[in-house]
Amino acid sequence: MASRSDLRVIRMRDSHLPEVFSLIDKENWGWEFAEIQQIYRLDPGSSVVALDGRDVAGLVTCIDFGSTAFIVHVIVRNGWRRRGVGVRMMENVLADLDSRGASTVELHANPEAVDFYGPFSFKRLEDISYYSKVPPHTHHRARPDRPAYSWLSPGDTSLMSEVMSSSTGYVRDDLERALSCMPPGQVLAKAGDCRTSALLLSRTGLELNGAGPWFMDGPTKAEAEGMMQTMLSAVPAKRTDVLAPESNEVAKAALESCGFSMAKAGIVRLARSSRPTGRFPSSVLSIGHLGLI
Ligand SMILES: CC(C)(COP(=O)(O)OP(=O)(O)OC[C@H]1O[C@@H](n2cnc3c(N)ncnc32)[C@H](O)[C@@H]1OP(=O)(O)O)[C@@H](O)C(=O)NCCC(=O)NCCS
Repeated sequence: MASRSDLRVIRMRDSHLPEVFSLIDKENWGWEFAEIQQIYRLDPGSSVVALDGRDVAGLVTCIDFGSTAFIVHVIVRNGWRRRGVGVRMMENVLADLDSRGASTVELHANPEAVDFYGPFSFKRLEDISYYSKVPPHTHHRARPDRPAYSWLSPGDTSLMSEVMSSSTGYVRDDLERALSCMPPGQVLAKAGDCRTSALLLSRTGLELNGAGPWFMDGPTKAEAEGMMQTMLSAVPAKRTDVLAPESNEVAKAALESCGFSMAKAGIVRLARSSRPTGRFPSSVLSIGHLGLI
């Protein structure tokens, strides 16, 4: 093994993706190769690898949406850990984002690794939980007390980004660019009475559906449950994952009554920002798997 000073931290390239995926896969976080390719395609300029000769010793995947950037994976190969590789990669990525003017960098940290991010000025915004549901997704008949939703065209990025921006506070242009590069598989929405609701199926893999972001303005548990059931009745019969803010009791109750189980609690949403940042409002029932989307 080379010494730390022999390691090179460089921009990730297409040719690194198989080894990058193999390192991510070892962590058992449930990502698929096609998704790592999608992340890279969404932003081929912000992710880095640490190379030991030609071998990938570490990686940071990152998507710069414009004003906000999201760090998706930070991994150092076993054997290279606690030797400063993670810090070197993070410094490289953050310096690059700073030079491009990204005002906020967000990530979802494993509870065990939160302290790693403190020295880079990341602050804890809120805890989130990861819920999962295995098929079958029972098809419930619509009940009269449940509002009807319509399926939006995933290509209608303008309307979607407007709704998402007003709920989450993310910059509309960032959302529109992200959605047009990576359109969701399904979008369920309802607008009326000055209340807009939307639930996206933003992440689809061979074995999973990643549902979210999900916004509802002041829903009851029954309304939230009705919306999620409507989405479940339309998604492919695969495991369905959702990330929900831990403080959102309506989301928690609705997910549990739809058959979701909590797979991991205590994931921490962190941000490093030159703008005021905080937890999402209660209208955000679930968040995106890639930050904004
Ligand atoms: C977390 C991880 C990326 C850190 O990379 P690394 O190269 O080992 O970290 P560094 O050597 O640069 O660490 C610098 C400092 O960060 C802190 N640190 C490192 N790993 C840490 C961890 N897992 N938890 C908390 N603090 C950590 C320590 O203070 C460390 O300094 P020290 O070694 O002098 O005590 C690496 O341990 C890893 O790949 N873990 C498994 C995957 C993972 O959990 N990734 C993070 C997902 S949010």
